[in-house]
Amino acid sequence: MKLLIKNGRVVDPSQHLDAICDVLVEDGKIAKIGKKLAEAADETYDATGKVVAPGFIDMHTHLREPGLEAKESIRTGTMAAAAGGITTIACMPNTKPAISTSIVVSGIKERAAREGFVNVEVIGSISKDEQGKELSEMGDMLEKGAVAFSDDGHYVDSSRLLMNAARYMTSFDAPLVSHSIESELNADGYMHEGAVSAKIGVPGVPSVAEDIAVARDVLVAGYTGAHIHIAHVASKGAADIIRQAKAKGWPVTAEVTVHHLTLTDEACLGYSTATRVSPPLRSRDHVEGMREALLDGTIDMIVTDHAPHAPEEKDVEFRKAPNGFCGLETSVGVVLTDLYHTGVLTLDQVIEKMSCRPAEIFKLKGGRLTEGALADITILDLDKEWTVDSKKFYTIGKVTPFEGKQCKGKAVATIVAGNIVMRDGEVCKK
Ligand code: DOR
Repeated sequence: MKLLIKNGRVVDPSQHLDAICDVLVEDGKIAKIGKKLAEAADETYDATGKVVAPGFIDMHTHLREPGLEAKESIRTGTMAAAAGGITTIACMPNTKPAISTSIVVSGIKERAAREGFVNVEVIGSISKDEQGKELSEMGDMLEKGAVAFSDDGHYVDSSRLLMNAARYMTSFDAPLVSHSIESELNADGYMHEGAVSAKIGVPGVPSVAEDIAVARDVLVAGYTGAHIHIAHVASKGAADIIRQAKAKGWPVTAEVTVHHLTLTDEACLGYSTATRVSPPLRSRDHVEGMREALLDGTIDMIVTDHAPHAPEEKDVEFRKAPNGFCGLETSVGVVLTDLYHTGVLTLDQVIEKMSCRPAEIFKLKGGRLTEGALADITILDLDKEWTVDSKKFYTIGKVTPFEGKQCKGKAVATIVAGNIVMRDGEVCKK
């Protein structure tokens, strides 16, 4: 099968490539990149006026399978990823059962290969069933293809357990992904503690809950030499701590979500459960701090933290709603609208933070457009105007704080291993 992508603006910051050219894809790989390629192909995709980028990678997705399929499944979650222009997702282990054993890792990988529309990487849990008591079978899970470990959704309260995990991982070189929010302080609130929480009378979680947790985790990385990746950084204090850790040369990396870069706690003013998330949406100064940290390299990548819940679970009062909302189908559009078109990020930076860096840090195959590389490609229309409408989403967890947002910029095709899995927003049948 040969696919010829004609006349697009091919952008790969990892090679300082930004040129109008053609990309020939053959048997799932990039066979050739060049001007006016004349090869015969089974299909030609006219990318005139579009950007051809290495496939976008989301290292923080909740697929909910096994066990929580009322919220999402491998099939619906990967369809949502394809629709959003994402070619690889890494799924988090807070499923039922949790991803704590090699058999669950193999099961997800097998089902994803059969039913998935995009590549699925698996993040196993640090502790058995994310209970924070004993280590899970990390070595066995690595053998079956897990790429990292996390107790996402929970902080690893036990420093002893985290030290053991970190020491163990130094011989494997797999990152520990830390959900860094101190548990006791976190348990007392429902949103960011600040002027808005005071105004609407909702108990808040202080941002220092995040800072305390991040401080311990980067100290463990510095002490053991194990790679610790800080998930969904949302506090400017936490970003400062990560900046200092990186300056010391400690093996720390970090991610920020699309919503923590673009929304403030003012979104919670109407008590909409679509704004409840952990870490919470914070005040403007923290949002500015996230943007600064992204720009100076303190934060390495942008993620979705796609955390779908069944719509009826979110249809309750603010304090009773579960944390999280969907993000796979809005991330590219929101980033292009609020960060690229406003001049916060250049196109190179968008692609670096959503493709090249995640691939590099988690040692994945994608993230580059080079001859011989896997043909995972995202095609963007930077100027396409569209409105977020959750009724059109593929995800089960329709709830989004971006409902009704007018966006400029969208992924218009998603190509995974040479196969077009989404065209113009429609996911292609398997
Ligand atoms: O808001 C969140 N929801 N944050 C998390 O870290 C977990 C996630 C979930 O699993 O629903």
